[in-house]
Amino acid sequence: MGRFDQEQKRALADPQGFWGEAAAAIDWDQPWDKVLDDSNPPFYRWFAGGRLNTCYNALDRHADGGRGGQAALIYDSPVTDTVRSYTYSELRDLVARFAGAMATHGVAKGDRVIIYMPMVPEAVIAMLACARLGAIHSVVFGGFAASELATRIDDATPKMILAASCGVEVNRVIPYKPLLDAAIEQAAHKPDHCIVLQRPMERAEMTAGRDLDWTEVAAAAKPHDCVSVAATDPLYILYTSGTTGEPKGIVRDNGGHAVALKWSMKAVYDIEPGEVYWAASDVGWVVGHSYIVYAPLLHGCTTILYEGKPVGTPDPGAFWRVISQHKVVTMFTAPTAFRAIRQQDPTGVHIDKYDLAHYRALFLAGERCDPDTLAWAQEKLKVPVIDHWWQTETGWSIAANCLGIEALPIKPGSPSRAVPGWDVRALDDGGHEVPRGKIGSIVCKLPLPPGSLPTLWKADARFREAYLDEFPGFYKTADAGYIDEDGYVYVMARTDDIINVAGHRLSTGAMEEVLAAHPDVAECAVIGVADSLKGQLPVGFLVVNAGVERSEAEIVADVVRMVRERIGPVAAFKTAAVAKRLPKTRSGKILRGTMRAIADGESYKTPATIDDPAILDEIAVTLRSLGYPHAS
Ligand code: COA
Ligand code: AMP
Repeated sequence: MGRFDQEQKRALADPQGFWGEAAAAIDWDQPWDKVLDDSNPPFYRWFAGGRLNTCYNALDRHADGGRGGQAALIYDSPVTDTVRSYTYSELRDLVARFAGAMATHGVAKGDRVIIYMPMVPEAVIAMLACARLGAIHSVVFGGFAASELATRIDDATPKMILAASCGVEVNRVIPYKPLLDAAIEQAAHKPDHCIVLQRPMERAEMTAGRDLDWTEVAAAAKPHDCVSVAATDPLYILYTSGTTGEPKGIVRDNGGHAVALKWSMKAVYDIEPGEVYWAASDVGWVVGHSYIVYAPLLHGCTTILYEGKPVGTPDPGAFWRVISQHKVVTMFTAPTAFRAIRQQDPTGVHIDKYDLAHYRALFLAGERCDPDTLAWAQEKLKVPVIDHWWQTETGWSIAANCLGIEALPIKPGSPSRAVPGWDVRALDDGGHEVPRGKIGSIVCKLPLPPGSLPTLWKADARFREAYLDEFPGFYKTADAGYIDEDGYVYVMARTDDIINVAGHRLSTGAMEEVLAAHPDVAECAVIGVADSLKGQLPVGFLVVNAGVERSEAEIVADVVRMVRERIGPVAAFKTAAVAKRLPKTRSGKILRGTMRAIADGESYKTPATIDDPAILDEIAVTLRSLGYPHAS
């Protein structure tokens, strides 16, 4: 039996022993009573009775333990032409002082704090300062619109919001403060204070009494010590798309999270403390939480915070410039970034300009990695390219080629095998395991390993209903796929209405809610069609009310604007068409899957339950007028 098999077997046979051992790499204020508390299934708690502080483990123990002078964070921002490095001591001091400022203005353990910030060091400082106080942060991605922020404000009921005056995209400055003001206006809950970082490109209007200036409050504050919290206390809430317009508040605990992430840095990524690790994502996404902020710092690495894009900042060599300049040994990004680079630099001319001798591996996740992109990256970079699979809910990888345990052969199209701690199966609709190679619903046997979601924020019932009820004893990933004879997992598609646009998770259901709100729209459907750059793109179909006065083009322009205003530019909703009717089953269910198959040029069977098959031909004509399928 190979090392990987041994570890996988041991983690499932003896989770208490396996994770108890891994937990020794974390500094605890008080040891746990039990590694895994399974007394209240299906709710499981890791390291119950234990106490720790995540910020202490990420910063103080390194700052005071010999890494004080080592770079903890390198901020590299081609969009503002800035590179700035913070040692562990400097970052700890900045975080301690900002935690002091937050405490002065009323934030204490257990309070929620929303962070609505772009990729600036202060966003990391904000997250760690919350962790230091035992406050629960909830970062909201900058590409979301005001109403999405408002929904999160009402669900998390934050005492304070931390924001910046603006974000900087490739060719424009995006004012954040008007969005924040609009969101607070829309929300029923009002925060006591907003602390706003004024960036020089766009200064924000401040609301007297409520808004405070970041620099001023930080300068006036005294450093705050780490507050000891229970291992099972929430560290953060991260909202992710659910099947409706109501996002799900994924809860992450402190203890299990610290243990799993620290363990993953060596086991999955094969990184040693002191090395430079880079996740090119955004702090607004789970990848940013886990692998820009927490895991690399818990492991004593140098992490890179990159405020730029794979292309256009200034060219498709941007990633290689960062790797070479900061001596990055391993980077992690989404396949879409590589498709963007490849499109602009197919022969890899820009790669050859940089010294990448120290660079060891590329990890990809966030969406299915097409074998073509994998092969291109492998050939051009000449390092292992590792596809790994995970979700906001899980917080770290479910399936991966664990380079730090034993490198397994790479099978393009598969994120490899279940990581130790994860018991992954493919089930049919009746809950029985399907034979190897056959597609089923991918599920993970409970209990899930540490670091994965214990529940949804203030929504235990929704947690059960969304993830646990359909396959009792298992967590439903809502991904469909198969497992081959060697145990390799193949993740093929979502079983719900989630689509993946440029590595961003979006709900077509939420977009449909926006379209349906247009007064001239009688019915609508949004599907995710294949896109060679972004993986998928949303396309909307509208059936308009009889006798409307506005033209079809005007209504389409309206709904495109509405999705941008209500969900945000990140939805990338730019294409819609008016249809006479939508294809449905006799019971009235819209056949979105069949519409998608037509759009992607796939063969499909006309469902036996279809109400009127002729509608599919009409849809095909409409799709052709929009340029789908691309190949035909
Ligand atoms: N704040 C405000 N607006 C934002 C934003 C932010 N933080 N991030 C993106 N947007 C806007 C973009 O400017 C764009 O606006 P536009 O419609 O006016 O052009 C829109 O949202 C869509 O953004 P995106 O889908 O990212 O498209 P893009 O053309 O700007 O970039 C890629 C395409 C592939 C280069 C980019 O998506 C990328 O780097 N992806 C990497 C994937 C990634 O980081 N995934 C996270 C999980 S690992
Ligand atoms: P998110 O919660 O944004 O990380 O999105 C999670 C979803 O992205 C998963 O449920 C999958 O549908 C998809 N996904 C993430 N990583 C992969 C991967 N390596 N292969 C296939 N799909 C992936």
